[in-house]
Amino acid sequence: MDLDTFAADLDALRERALAAVAEAIDPATLDVVDAAYLGRKGELRRLLSGIGALPVADRPRVGAIANPTRQELEAAIATRRERLEGIHMDVRLAGEAEDVTLPGRPLARGSLHPLKETEREIARFFARYGFVPYESPEVETDELNFQALNIPPDHPARDLWDTVYVVPPAGQPVEATADRSRWLLRTHTSPGQIRALRELEPPMRVLTPGRCYRYEATDASHGSEFFQVEGLMVDEGTSLAHLRGLLDEFAHHLFGADRGTRFRPGYYPFTEPSVAFDIACVVCDGAGCPACGRTGWMTILGAGMVHPVVLRNGGLDPERYQGFAFGMGVDRITMLRFGVPDLRAFYANDLRFLERF
Ligand code: PHE
Repeated sequence: MDLDTFAADLDALRERALAAVAEAIDPATLDVVDAAYLGRKGELRRLLSGIGALPVADRPRVGAIANPTRQELEAAIATRRERLEGIHMDVRLAGEAEDVTLPGRPLARGSLHPLKETEREIARFFARYGFVPYESPEVETDELNFQALNIPPDHPARDLWDTVYVVPPAGQPVEATADRSRWLLRTHTSPGQIRALRELEPPMRVLTPGRCYRYEATDASHGSEFFQVEGLMVDEGTSLAHLRGLLDEFAHHLFGADRGTRFRPGYYPFTEPSVAFDIACVVCDGAGCPACGRTGWMTILGAGMVHPVVLRNGGLDPERYQGFAFGMGVDRITMLRFGVPDLRAFYANDLRFLERF
């Protein structure tokens, strides 16, 4: 072995190493190449370990020949590693990339239930005339739901309200007969009248919205649960004309300024006189069609002057105070507003229906 042979072997090693570095396609392969040529048991070490065969005078020159090659190879590997790691990162980022130009996912936006929307619209209207919300409970006594409203236990008018009776709340006395302390689910919001009369001072204007219950079969226009809004105004000199004017405004607000209206005689034990308030049919506009029973009119609420007995039961002197009251079905008014033919749709909780409001 002489120095020229050593230099030729080193050059061949260099060529092979550079080719292997160029062919390495990922950092792991490059590590293998690095170890194979420059490692502790690599080819360069092996070549250098052969210098014992060189003449003694040539040995010092080996380092001068071999070191530039080692540095060149180290640099080539470092450059290649940087390159491969860059590519590796690019590939990874490309795989994880978000397309920021894609449209966002839509947020599901809630809306009020149509019955609640109508209830609020009614409340907004009457608030303009000074009516304030007055809450009244859903579980009531026979006394407030009926008797204080001038409906004694065996009164035939009870047939107007088929009633769901309930077990009394804990601690309340249970009585065998339909007497004052019998508990029930309110059949209308009118017991709110008694509570308001007893709690507040005239002049008063209150509006009581809420859920009511009747023991009856469900069909397209009747539910065993439904919603009412009750109105009550009490003052000195309150008259039927005030009621008429207010309800006219109300009908025009909800169903259009040209909507025809009328009062018809009605009957409720707790008002005298009692009226049914009609609007011109929202389908045929008064001409007569199946929706209005060919009368041209639709009843939207019951009302009347508060009966003197009721005022007295509420603790007021009917000689001094007069009042009017009205009660309407929110379900029916919502059906008429939006042209919904079957009120069961309001309780089915089908989002395809509810999302249309
Ligand atoms: N409470 C009556 C009903 O449920 C409606 C009504 C309220 C009538 C107030 C007159 C006065 O049918």
